Amino acid sequence: MDQYSDFIIIKAKENGVNVIGLTRGKETRFHHSEKLDKGEVMIFQFTEHTSAVKIRGKALIQSRHGVLETEDE
Ligand code: TRP
Repeated sequence: MDQYSDFIIIKAKENGVNVIGLTRGKETRFHHSEKLDKGEVMIFQFTEHTSAVKIRGKALIQSRHGVLETEDE
């Protein structure tokens, strides 16, 4: 894959938000976990290694599909 898809932006709304990357292909497993503190932003793409992302904690997520928030705990 030469060209990756759009960027996704995540902004943490509390300390300790986890952004977890899951593998592409036959096996779906965690391969990367990134911890964000309040106000920190992560910008990422889906790649040949990453097909899904799980977000734990309060965060704002922006993509071409719009803006959404994870639910309050
Ligand atoms: N090495 C990973 C990859 O190229 C890095 C990565 C890309 C990633 N997008 C991600 C890690 C999203 C966590 C979440 O696929």
